[in-house]
Formats: sequence, structure tokens, C-alpha cells
Amino acid sequence: MGAGRNEDTGVKREKADRTLLPGFEDVVVGATGRPKHEFDEPAPLASHGPARIISLCNQKGGVGKTTTTINLGAALAGYGRRVLAIDFDPQGALSAGLGIPTHDLPTVYDLLLGNKYTPAEVIQKTAVENLDIMPANIDLSAAEVHLVNEVAREQILARVLRKVSADYDVILIDCQPSLGILTVNALTASHGVLIPLECEFFALRGVALLIETIDKVRDRLNPAIELDGILATMFDSRTLHSREVLERVVDAFGDSVLETVIGRTVKFPDASVAGVPITEFAPEHAAAKAYRQAARELIQRGAVA
Ligand SMILES: Nc1ncnc2c1ncn2[C@@H]1O[C@H](COP(=O)(O)OP(=O)(O)O)[C@@H](O)[C@H]1O
Ligand SMILES: [Mg+2]
Repeated sequence: MGAGRNEDTGVKREKADRTLLPGFEDVVVGATGRPKHEFDEPAPLASHGPARIISLCNQKGGVGKTTTTINLGAALAGYGRRVLAIDFDPQGALSAGLGIPTHDLPTVYDLLLGNKYTPAEVIQKTAVENLDIMPANIDLSAAEVHLVNEVAREQILARVLRKVSADYDVILIDCQPSLGILTVNALTASHGVLIPLECEFFALRGVALLIETIDKVRDRLNPAIELDGILATMFDSRTLHSREVLERVVDAFGDSVLETVIGRTVKFPDASVAGVPITEFAPEHAAAKAYRQAARELIQRGAVA
């Protein structure tokens, strides 16, 4: 890439670097039309904790929140970060995706409502070293109703996470697809928000509402919350459509959009069935590489230690 282009952040989109990773056409690096960086392999941490807490949030379903929580979590764990993933969706897809049984076991719901269990009794180890999970199941759908009558109902998750923060470098909260009380709890507990955005036509619909919600939480409950980034997912470099959507996202959100883009690939459903992250299931697959790059980019941006 020429030096002139590096300096030109307003680079013409049609001239954008669309370098394909070797052997794969479904993952594109530098597709956001900005210069492509090689993010350095992060140095190991000398000490651990307290965690930076990041919500993966988008009220639209099926945009890659859970997939990103699993694979970004596993990638960060691979770089020696101690990671806790919180399943905060009653569908329990994060727990299932990491192969964690939730039936008849205590879950995050039990920590939100009641003192019967300690976080240590709820947190489980996954098959991935350094990656733990606080699972959820359908019980969590009742939390919405029960939390309404609680004192400081928006701060319940924050209080739970304070007890475990010292043990981790990063806590990733996989939010449910709504902007209800659970998501507001997640945002209130978080230092940052990462918004996965599917590269399809209606992607931008609803993002304004999401940003408004984050602004309200910042105003009323959590002044320190930051937008850590927008991660484009399910990008298909072969379609003009995908590229146009990505351009619009970059036009709208500029540097908030991570340079790393996650391509569309059938490997994700395969990995979900296997109950392991793609970074373990197919570590050399372009999508695994993309999530490792997203992990390095977030470390470089200071979103993760
Ligand atoms: N990059 C991708 N390419 C192809 N399929 C994907 C990709 N990311 C996620 N998926 C699939 O899309 C579906 C929705 O993803 P998921 O992470 O569950 O979204 P959310 O948590 O936002 O509802 C899942 O079946 C998942 O396997
Ligand atoms: Mg999900």
C-alpha cells in the first residue's frame, strides 16, 4: 500500500484495499476502505485483572453477537487474557455454543435474584483454556418481570460482576436482542460496548436507537461507558450489496468501525453444532483468523488489556 494512500483517510472507496487473505475469498481485510494495519501479536500480561467489561449489544437478532462473544472470547483467551463470557440471553445460545449444559444448574439468573449461590458456583470452565462462562437458560426470561420491583434494578448485574472482576482481564456480555431491562443492566455494568452489525440492507436501522439507549445509560446510570467499536459481520466481498452496506456504515460511524471485518462463512453454524469456537474448531480458517485479528485490534485500541 502506497504511503500517499496511508495518509489519505478519505481514500476513495472504489480504491479501497480489498486484500484477500490467502486462499479465502470470504474474509476481507481492509474492506472498510481505510488502510489495513497488521495488529501486533500482544505481549503476555504480567498480572491479571481487574476486568474491563464489554457488552456485545444490538437489539436486532442474528447479527453475530453470540458468535462474536464466543470467538472473540476464545481469541483473547488464546492471547493469555483471562476471559469471562456472560450469557445474558434467555435463549442460552452462548452456553450451548460453548457446549455448556444449563439444565438444572445454577445460572446468571440465580445471581441476579437471590443469594442462594455465589458467582464461583455459577461460573463454569469451558473447553478453552482461560475462557470461563456464566451460563443462562430460559429462567432468565423471568428476570425481566422480577427486576421491575427491585431497588436499583438497573445495577443488579454490575453488583454481581464486581465480585468476580478481579479474577479476569475482560468480561464479555452476550446481550439478548432487545433494549429491555436486561440489556440496560448489561450496559450499566460495562466499560464499553461493541456493536456487531450484519452487512445487510437494514443493518443501520435501529442502530440510532441503540446509540440513543447507550447515551441515556451514560447520562443516567453509567457516565463512563464508551463505544468501543462497531464490528461488521457476515460480510460477503463477492456481493456489491455487502460492500455498499459497509461503505454506508463507515460513512456513518467513521473510526468507530473496526478495520477487521468478519466474513460470511458456513463454518460458524458448523462450529456451533460442535459446541466449540471456530478458533478451536478450524483455527486456520479465515474466520478464525479474522476473530484473532479483531482481538488484536481491540487490544491495540485499548479496549482490552
Ligand atoms: N460470519 C458469519 N457467517 C455466517 N454465519 C454466521 C456468521 N456469524 C454468525 N453466523 C450465524 O448466524 C446465526 C446468528 O448468529 P448469532 O451469533 O447467534 O447472532 P445473535 O447472537 O446476534 O442473534 C447463527 O446461526 C450463526 O451461526
Ligand atoms: Mg445471540
